[in-house]
Amino acid sequence: MTAELVKGIHWVGYVDWAVRDFHGYNTHRGATYNAYLVQDEKTALIDTVKGPYAGTLLKQVAALTDPAKVDYVVCNHGEPDHSSALPAVMAAMPNATLLCSKKALDSLGAYYDMAGWKVQVVGTGDSVSLGSRTLAFLETPMVHWPDSMMTYVPEEKLLFSMDGFGQHVASTGRFDDENPLPMLLEEARIYYANIVTPYSGKVAETLKAAAGLDIAMIAPSHGVIWRSHLADILKAYRNWSEGKLKKKVLVVFDTMWGSTAKMAEAIVEGIASVPGVEAKLVAIRSSDLTEIATEMLEAAGIAFGSSTLNRDMLPMAAAAMSYARGLRFTGRAALAFGSYGWGTGGPEAIDKGFAECKWEAVRGPVKSKFKPDDKVLDECRAAGRDLALRALELATASGYEPLLID
Ligand code: FEO
Repeated sequence: MTAELVKGIHWVGYVDWAVRDFHGYNTHRGATYNAYLVQDEKTALIDTVKGPYAGTLLKQVAALTDPAKVDYVVCNHGEPDHSSALPAVMAAMPNATLLCSKKALDSLGAYYDMAGWKVQVVGTGDSVSLGSRTLAFLETPMVHWPDSMMTYVPEEKLLFSMDGFGQHVASTGRFDDENPLPMLLEEARIYYANIVTPYSGKVAETLKAAAGLDIAMIAPSHGVIWRSHLADILKAYRNWSEGKLKKKVLVVFDTMWGSTAKMAEAIVEGIASVPGVEAKLVAIRSSDLTEIATEMLEAAGIAFGSSTLNRDMLPMAAAAMSYARGLRFTGRAALAFGSYGWGTGGPEAIDKGFAECKWEAVRGPVKSKFKPDDKVLDECRAAGRDLALRALELATASGYEPLLID
């Protein structure tokens, strides 16, 4: 079912209610792959969908126009969730010219046989007239791939923002005001934490470039179209892309026989003793990487713990650290902790990993031989307090702007 953004511009994408995994990200509310049809004197399709849903996309286009009359297909990004319907779409639209960035020739050329496709490379500053409306292009490399770009329609103040400002939400409401706003902002937070964080510098540059555009509507490639709550999502993106931090300390741990869990709880007590600092405890094996990354996004402090197994941290703790390192949640105050038996190694491995995460340890690892006694638990409380005090300094300096969902 299509939806009209403004007269002559329709959503023609696919709602994937069933998908729960998006390269490891737990999409617990499903997802959408958004495509848009712009009808003017000339007609343009903005992006496509995942390959298996090409038929749905083409049916929706056919309900609005003859696919053979489509003049342009814009590919803003070559990742297969948006491009793998291209072969079917280009076959059904023989008169269309594919518009994409120079870098997209690499990704699209690797994925698909482009022989016979009419292709025109576009970049920042280029535009194509559809008649009364224009498609203006803005390259946004690394938001989310090197090939990424956004397409702006100045006459409608409409930005097709590709992955930027997306959320993984399957819903019958295509617009932000047709869904609960707190849910959308939370899903935008999960999406940013798990997909966008490594490219925050580029996102901040894009926001600055886009600040010169008059924007009334942002139509991303995933989730709802922002038309009523732009200020909320733009404020959130300023926080996240500029690495602004909340007065929050995350305690994340894995435990073998409960000793490291006891230490984690004592650290939480120490954090909670500092007024104004929120403590959050996440047990790695009863959570998932998606939740852990989301909790890390705005945390100014992270206490990371593991029991020792085979002179190292537990495997699930290592997975969480690897994920966090890749997502580049840099600039946090940190504390390593954990238990050991006859051989040390778990908390030490964590402490060593902080350098690669670019986290600043407030002290050396807090360790417990087997079960923590009162002395160790007191040490945990003191370390938690020290971590919270440093996190408070970092958060205060960062200038985080509170969101509706805080
Ligand atoms: Fe939604 Fe980077 O693809």
